[in-house]
Amino acid sequence: MTDSLITIDGDRLWRSLMELAEIGAYDDARTGLRGVNRLALTDADAEGRRLVLGWFRQAGMSVRIDPMGNLIARRDGTDPGAAPVMTGSHLDSVATAGAFDGCLGVLGGLEVVRTLTERGISTRRPIEVVVFTEEEGVRFGTDMLGSAVAAGRIAIKDAHDLIDRDGLSVGAELRRTGFAGDGPARFDPPHAYVECHIEQGPVLAEAGLTVGVVTGVQAISWQEITISGRAAHAGTTPTELRADAGLAAAQIIVALRKMVDSGSYGQLRATVGHLAVHPDLTNIVPARAQLTVDLRNPDDEQMARAEADLAGYLAGLEGSQPGLGLSTRRMARTSHVPFDHGIQKAIATAADDHGLAHLSLLSGAGHDAQEMAAICPTAMIFVRGEYDGISHNPREYSTPQACARGIDVLATTLVRLAGE
Ligand code: GLV
Ligand code: MN
Ligand code: MN
Repeated sequence: MTDSLITIDGDRLWRSLMELAEIGAYDDARTGLRGVNRLALTDADAEGRRLVLGWFRQAGMSVRIDPMGNLIARRDGTDPGAAPVMTGSHLDSVATAGAFDGCLGVLGGLEVVRTLTERGISTRRPIEVVVFTEEEGVRFGTDMLGSAVAAGRIAIKDAHDLIDRDGLSVGAELRRTGFAGDGPARFDPPHAYVECHIEQGPVLAEAGLTVGVVTGVQAISWQEITISGRAAHAGTTPTELRADAGLAAAQIIVALRKMVDSGSYGQLRATVGHLAVHPDLTNIVPARAQLTVDLRNPDDEQMARAEADLAGYLAGLEGSQPGLGLSTRRMARTSHVPFDHGIQKAIATAADDHGLAHLSLLSGAGHDAQEMAAICPTAMIFVRGEYDGISHNPREYSTPQACARGIDVLATTLVRLAGE
């Protein structure tokens, strides 16, 4: 079926990606590259949102802002009563990002609309492009926040009450940045949701392919561990009298790596990405340590076992030094999410029709699509990344050609679904 084959303007897409990447840009000393830092609901994120909001309007779209700050840009269809086909992703970034994570999905959706309008192509269903708030979860502590509220997993009040490390809340930051919208917090189920995203891993590049069809997203478990010990003099305090929170934190990191290396938990991945000790001084035994644990696993049962064994290890660790205390706080938890077979098929057919060989793969990263999958048929398109698909790093890079081909597949898939 090639009737609705759409080819987008790859140069225009690239220019939009590069212009957006100027907002929140910084010189990354470690890589010598320009990186992007647009943590959710910061001034930089707000500036990026305003730029893209303006582009939506220039493209003739109407834009609604919901109470979670999600931007929903709409291109009407010919049937006013028909549920929309949605696409989108996020504009917020981690603190050491590149130009593509999330942005490709949003600006790709915009580029689809620009192309359709320029060519006078109408669709029966509306096409909506969504910018979800705080997908990364690095500022307010839980990922896919905006889409989780839209799809009903997280209550709006709980989301608004989340605070960052400075005690600023989501609700207050939405108001401060001018993105506290109104109307219902939950989306009416769309006809379908299709998200295009960079792969953020090496699979497509190793296979020599440009695009992939995503079968689902693996389980994600985030928790914060706080260890309390006792501040004491580094020179005078005998080892056996110490309650060393820093030592316990190090033991947790090593224990996690041993769990991964044991092979007993399938394809478990474990990361301690945040570690802070207090009072953080050379000659004082750490009185307190705080760390985050990020676990990923494609298998829900293996993930549950890993979490239980980690909890057992932590309980044992508490008794290992007199005076050591340990507490945990759940930050985020999602199960393996399989994507809809029909939408995967539609994406694969579109890729075939564009002459693009493809493979199917599970996503290692979390995505807004995994939340939307709870309310409508959903799947994703992955675009190949260079340099082993490195991401959450300024080296993150996908070529202009790869981005354009991914958005060609998105365009064709959306138009076909919007004709149903
Ligand atoms: C989102 O980037 C994630 O942490 O998977
Ligand atoms: Mn992303
Ligand atoms: Mn990310």
